[in-house]
Amino acid sequence: MQSSVEPAYIQDFIHFEQHVAKLIHRAGWTVETAKPNQRGYDLAIKKDNFVGAVQVKWLKNNVTAPQLLAFANFLDSEEGQKYNFGWFITTKGFGGPAQALIKSWGQNSKIRCGIALENKLVGFDKVSVIDEEPKPGDTTQNTPKKVYFGVFTCKGGVGKTTVAAHLAGALALQGFNIALVDLDPEKNLQKLVGDGVFVPNPKGVGTTIQVFDGSDWHEDSARDCQIVICDCSPALERNPEELVKQLDYCIIPTTLNPLGINKHGKVIQDTVKEIRELNNHAHLFVLVNNFKDPGIRRLRLMKNVYFDAYKEISQTDDKFHCIDPEEVCIRASDILYYWGIHVLENPENSASRLAFDLIGGRCYPREDFISLADYIENKAGIGFLRAN
Ligand SMILES: Nc1ncnc2c1ncn2[C@@H]1O[C@H](COP(=O)(O)OP(=O)(O)O)[C@@H](O)[C@H]1O
Ligand SMILES: [Mg+2]
Repeated sequence: MQSSVEPAYIQDFIHFEQHVAKLIHRAGWTVETAKPNQRGYDLAIKKDNFVGAVQVKWLKNNVTAPQLLAFANFLDSEEGQKYNFGWFITTKGFGGPAQALIKSWGQNSKIRCGIALENKLVGFDKVSVIDEEPKPGDTTQNTPKKVYFGVFTCKGGVGKTTVAAHLAGALALQGFNIALVDLDPEKNLQKLVGDGVFVPNPKGVGTTIQVFDGSDWHEDSARDCQIVICDCSPALERNPEELVKQLDYCIIPTTLNPLGINKHGKVIQDTVKEIRELNNHAHLFVLVNNFKDPGIRRLRLMKNVYFDAYKEISQTDDKFHCIDPEEVCIRASDILYYWGIHVLENPENSASRLAFDLIGGRCYPREDFISLADYIENKAGIGFLRAN
């Protein structure tokens, strides 16, 4: 965390975007703010016959390669082709992999990357100058509302991190940009996914999963994300209170094990109680993870006990949903067990891709998580956020 006082122009996204717009305007460009729901860029700029799209990235840390790839993908899209070039302007700087990517694009790339300082824009290496001698200008923009998901059970090892990451993957495949926030001090999510994944879409603009450490998280750092998924710490009090209060949906992973149903029932009851102390509006979904099919007869018996354990909560809390495992559950799978290994580097364009995107035929994790994403999308009505 920074101890020194930040200059006013980077205090939040709006100030930063205005600052960038000013710098560009002073260099003789006409600057227009993109419409609030416009995907891919923040400012459209024009001088003589040149039109450019500018992505303004307000971050507390360095730009990552997936964030750049998303912009490159936008510039290749039909909408993006209307622009002669793109500028990617950020607050702090560019991380190692991002710098390597920029260098691999070379001098003639359609994208130029820079940092906005107090009086000028400088290149990504802080040396090559993008523009100088600024003059005043102005713009404003509202932040579209994001949907917040938490994945929380007050117990370790039930699949919170697995569910958070793969739900992010499934939603990214369905056309959403996702911010994944790692709130667990164990940082398993970051160990597994790194700082993000770019999910290419052959039919349109690709999407990103950007990963944030809880301490770096700020809504303005993820302005292009429609969905925020928090991988929560199992100790509720260790999660930032504002975030818990902000959750619209919370997924509560559990296991359906004949010996543990009552014990797990108690864990879920405690989980719900803890969430409700801070947040009364979130829809809560209990999700069976690590499901091993016991055959239909035993499953029906187990389901009765399972639903019984939550009957009381269901009767008093109308935003509590216990997902029927026959409808949606996450099956036990070797692929999931080792799923971290499947987040592979794709050497062709240095984009990492989610493993389940690569596996054809029957792929339990992918099918299960897409069904979960569909289920939640239907219940939650987040389809309007879909961009592509
Ligand atoms: N559906 C599943 N099938 C197989 N292994 C799973 C499944 N869900 C989780 N696991 C494994 O169980 C362990 C705990 O999962 P994790 O997501 O880290 O739980 P938590 O975040 O709640 O502590 C991990 O090794 C993970 O790979
Ligand atoms: Mg975890």
